[in-house]
Amino acid sequence: MEPDVLITYRRYRSEADLPSIMALVGSELSEPYVIYTYRYFLAFADHDDDRLPHSNDPDRPPERPIGVIVCKQDMHRGRVNRGYIAMLSVDKQWRKRGIASALVQHSIDAMKLDGAREVVLETEADNFAALSFYASMGFMREKRLYRFYMNGKDAFR
Ligand SMILES: CC(C)(COP(=O)(O)OP(=O)(O)OC[C@H]1O[C@@H](n2cnc3c(N)ncnc32)[C@H](O)[C@@H]1OP(=O)(O)O)[C@@H](O)C(=O)NCCC(=O)NCCS
Repeated sequence: MEPDVLITYRRYRSEADLPSIMALVGSELSEPYVIYTYRYFLAFADHDDDRLPHSNDPDRPPERPIGVIVCKQDMHRGRVNRGYIAMLSVDKQWRKRGIASALVQHSIDAMKLDGAREVVLETEADNFAALSFYASMGFMREKRLYRFYMNGKDAFR
């Protein structure tokens, strides 16, 4: 890692973040998400404090987004307070440094504070890096969803 690089984690701020989010996700996940999918997830997002310094603040070095997680949380079938990880992606150059782990952990912590009893996600059945990653975070495979993705691939939930 470059010696003077500072990695920070922050919440979504506004639609100005969308191009970076879409670039990080679009280059890595097979599912062709359209902008409305992102808006569906981000419409009710807890926004970061807009008064925090922005990357255009002359006193701060410019931000370069290198990882993203997109989640939601709601009452599943009116019964279980459930968190859901919809998208997770880390720039290739920045992998294997614990960034995805930190993103998932921050999200789970926030979901727990909001009362989540479980957190679920799906990933492609042949995405071995993601399967290994989620196993390392303690997730268990519950079921195989046949032809879940638009490319015809199965998913593990
Ligand atoms: C999966 C992904 C998010 C992991 O990001 P990351 O920042 O490199 O993950 P971390 O550094 O936090 O890895 C934590 C642990 O996960 C496991 N892991 C991560 N990448 C792995 C890989 N390529 N192969 C095997 N295990 C891996 C390891 O156990 C790792 O711990 P270690 O570094 O001590 O060995 C990243 O590879 C990625 O963006 N892939 C493309 C998008 C994607 O598949 N997203 C998930 C599906 S929604």
